[in-house]
Amino acid sequence: MPISRLFISLLFCVLPQLLEGARILAIFPFPGPSQYINVVPYLKGLAARGHQVTSVNAFPQKKPVENFHDIVVPEVFQSYEEIIADLEISRNSWEENSFVNDFFLSVTKTVLQNAKVQQELLQPGKAQFDLIIVEALRTDALYGFAAHFNAPIIGISTFGTDWNIDELVGNTSPISYIPLITGGLTDHMTYWERVHNFVETAIAWLNWKLVYVPLHVKLYEQYFPHIAHKKPLVELSKNFSLVLLNQHFSLSFPRPYVPNMIEVGGLHIAHKPAPLPKEMEEFIQGAGSTGVIYFSLGSNIKSKDLPEERKQMLLQALASLPQRVLWKFEDEQLPNKPPNVFISKWFPQPDILAHPNVKLFITHGGLLSTIESIHHGKPVLGLPFFYDQFLNVERAKQAGFGLALDHKQMTGAEFVQTIKRLINEPKFSETAKLMSARYRDQPMSPQETAIWWTEYVLRHKGAPHMRIAAQDLSFVAYHSLDVVGLLLGVAVLMLVIIFYLLQRLLCSRGGAGKQKLKNQ
Ligand SMILES: *[C@@H]1O[C@H](CO)[C@@H](O)[C@H](O)[C@H]1NC(C)=O
Repeated sequence: MPISRLFISLLFCVLPQLLEGARILAIFPFPGPSQYINVVPYLKGLAARGHQVTSVNAFPQKKPVENFHDIVVPEVFQSYEEIIADLEISRNSWEENSFVNDFFLSVTKTVLQNAKVQQELLQPGKAQFDLIIVEALRTDALYGFAAHFNAPIIGISTFGTDWNIDELVGNTSPISYIPLITGGLTDHMTYWERVHNFVETAIAWLNWKLVYVPLHVKLYEQYFPHIAHKKPLVELSKNFSLVLLNQHFSLSFPRPYVPNMIEVGGLHIAHKPAPLPKEMEEFIQGAGSTGVIYFSLGSNIKSKDLPEERKQMLLQALASLPQRVLWKFEDEQLPNKPPNVFISKWFPQPDILAHPNVKLFITHGGLLSTIESIHHGKPVLGLPFFYDQFLNVERAKQAGFGLALDHKQMTGAEFVQTIKRLINEPKFSETAKLMSARYRDQPMSPQETAIWWTEYVLRHKGAPHMRIAAQDLSFVAYHSLDVVGLLLGVAVLMLVIIFYLLQRLLCSRGGAGKQKLKNQ
């Protein structure tokens, strides 16, 4: 163990004595399982260090965890089913933004309406908390809990930052080289890509500010009436003590951050892989040196729901490969399943990817999957479906450890050929290993980093000294529009004066000339 690691571990043993257990309210109501999977090891890590954690979520613990209390909001699954059902409908940009914001609004409402939340949290004087941790995903009315409990608030984003999360701490993201998460562009954009990025960002911003912020303000005033007049929601939304991002410069594009925005990409990854279930281990071992391909479309998209024609195409293609394939498939039955394919509803994904016989990961390109494949140094074939998946897959391509295909358009031959390239051309796995080495080279693990910064905020009472002054400026002052306006005004005024004087001079000269003519 290097000395610095040892020192940090020692520090971690000593720190609990310096800090009393805090009461922490965590609000992670999103019904997509991967978002909660990302944060729950961190929340349990806080509980293990003696803090009392109350977690509002949709995936309660199956066994009791010490210092950890669930408030379950199962109603959120209703809005989720609706959004998943409507994903494929085509919309213009404005409608797309409204669609997503409607979903976030309905999740927010569901939490505030939940009986347990009302009983245990909203009733005045019932509970007290020293810290609020929320998933920062346009659930602004929920930031009211910070005002309600007069406690500092930390935001966690499971996909990195965007213009909306930036506003919580005043982070700057120049849109000339920071692409919109949903746009599928990289940090090196052509002129027209920059135009596209600008327009799309402006549409998203306007949609949020004009339509959805007022709706959240209304919700906030309705559910937190005793505090809403003292602390307006717009102020709460600019008063985050800390934002933790599930992102890292070695995984993504390098970019600037303000001091209270910290990268903790791979928050969920455990230090050591666990042994695999016997059946899986044997199947993987049995493949020998030809290796195994792991194929999973994540927890939201179900392979079993793919169109029949696509399923048959995939089966034929997989049957023609020399490798064995593990396919996350959610049905017991898969007619025509070739002998080299092993299906299961669930795989211990990080442990599978850790296996040396696994050569390739065919993925939907979700961020957690992407981070896991980098962590374990495995190349990827990306088949993106929605949201940030296009961006993640584009990054994998640009970095050189992956290739992408359009899952709706690709032919079986293209699918097989791309798999062969990724396995047979060594550059892909070499790049994946290089990325892994860069990613793992950090002073503390992402989870230790997150816990350290969380306790930093507790130790320093919200750590207001990290908050940048931008948070107190208006839009006009922040962008120096007033200064530019003044300077432009002065310049225009001077031009007018010069023009006026010149005209006077010329006129009087002309006048004098005329006078002369007349006199002759
Ligand atoms: C902002 O947060 C600090 C703690 O970091 C708190 O003392 C202050 O009251 C908050 N301001 C508003 C307007 O909520």
